[in-house]
Amino acid sequence: MKTLKTSTLKTIALFAISTMLVSCFKSKETKYEDSSQIPVNLEMTAELTAPPHVPTPVGKRKAKKLIVKMEIKEQEGEITEGVRYVYWTFGGSVPGSFIRTRVGDEVEFHLQNHPDNKLPHNIDLHAVTGPGGGAESSFVAPGHEKVFSFKTLNPGLYVYHCATAPVGMHIANGMYGLILVEPEGGLPPVDKEYYIMQGDFYTKGKNGERGFQPFDMQKAVDEKADYVVFNGSVSALTGDNAISANVGETVRLFVGNGGPNLVSSFHVIGEIFDKVYVEGGDLVNENVQTTLIPAGGAAIVEFKVDVPGTFILVDHSIFRAFNKGALGMLRVQGEENEKIYSGEQYEGIYLPEGPGIQEMPTTGEIVESKVPAKNIDEQLEFGKRIYMQTCFACHQAEGQGIPNAFPPLAKSDYLNADVDRAISAVINGLTGEITVNGKKYNSVMTRQMLSSEEVADVLTYVYNSWGNNKTVVTKEMVDKVKGKK
Ligand code: CU
Repeated sequence: MKTLKTSTLKTIALFAISTMLVSCFKSKETKYEDSSQIPVNLEMTAELTAPPHVPTPVGKRKAKKLIVKMEIKEQEGEITEGVRYVYWTFGGSVPGSFIRTRVGDEVEFHLQNHPDNKLPHNIDLHAVTGPGGGAESSFVAPGHEKVFSFKTLNPGLYVYHCATAPVGMHIANGMYGLILVEPEGGLPPVDKEYYIMQGDFYTKGKNGERGFQPFDMQKAVDEKADYVVFNGSVSALTGDNAISANVGETVRLFVGNGGPNLVSSFHVIGEIFDKVYVEGGDLVNENVQTTLIPAGGAAIVEFKVDVPGTFILVDHSIFRAFNKGALGMLRVQGEENEKIYSGEQYEGIYLPEGPGIQEMPTTGEIVESKVPAKNIDEQLEFGKRIYMQTCFACHQAEGQGIPNAFPPLAKSDYLNADVDRAISAVINGLTGEITVNGKKYNSVMTRQMLSSEEVADVLTYVYNSWGNNKTVVTKEMVDKVKGKK
């Protein structure tokens, strides 16, 4: 009897405690109809990251006072090999540091303008509800700091940018980035997250013209971009800088577009987006091939990677990808799955091709390079670069060509027998049957729109590689052949 009584009491007590716990938990989960009413407790300093990395997810943390300290730095960098450019940056990178918040956070933003900078700047965050998105409160001179606060009312992925006049110039120089406002409870967990932002750049010299290149305002006004890139430079996401994942993982990309001018048709070659948070908002679309990312806009894309290989990220306005730099790589490692993909893999088709203009054999204007090679070593270096961009796809990495399609350049009797004929092939193109090393080829070689310097460099590289006869081709030799035509 006594025992029964005790256990009954215990049961009642347990029931009462568990009810209290449930109600407590429920009150923690309160959904606020009005985000401005979400209370903040405690403060923390925001973790900021340079692309392609993102800060730790907010998870289940409560809304807080979030201190963001960001420094503006004007600094020189390389937009592509051999081309220097002065970027204006939020936090020292293009795009600027990634800011990760949750809805209801009260952000205290400290914007610092480095003392060595030459210009005033400010920040307009699209996540801000208020005049100028913060721009009116944050105009800051070199060596100074401005502080302003805002509450994150709407979850989503938002662009921020400088809005100091001339606004277009500040944005064109790289002054943009992303701020993520996660919903209550955070975004669903995934395996890999990366930060990618497209931007268009305008330089005095044409794409690939070596040396220091200043910003070209007229080209920017005319919307004639020399470079369209992910994360600030042509090679920011290729080669050793590629992003990575393992087979079976889900990848989430936070993709923004700083513009200033161009809209991005964002696509990953060989993948289908399982989910797209359209325009970075609440609407989720599924099974998407290419998603539009407006200038000053963003999207979150997610996909599970099922097979290994290199997946190419592009702006599917495709000349931008292969000729202006909007090309990145995602390397996926793991087991093959032949049910999904048969496996015949051919690395090398999708490589940046650079600025070389190629035409079918006719005539046209060619601009001479302003920075010629100073010596044979430079000539070989420049020549190799041109080769990788212009000749590689057909003639291959070791000059071996492709059987029955494109003739070899390695130990080529055709090349070694007649340098003027080789020069002519490059500058005028080549059609009709030829015999190389005893085999017949009948394909079309396009006319390469290269300057005389560039033709000399690439042919010198070819003649000094793969067992050829080490001829050094000069600009004068190329000009002589041009004169004959
Ligand atoms: Cu600025």
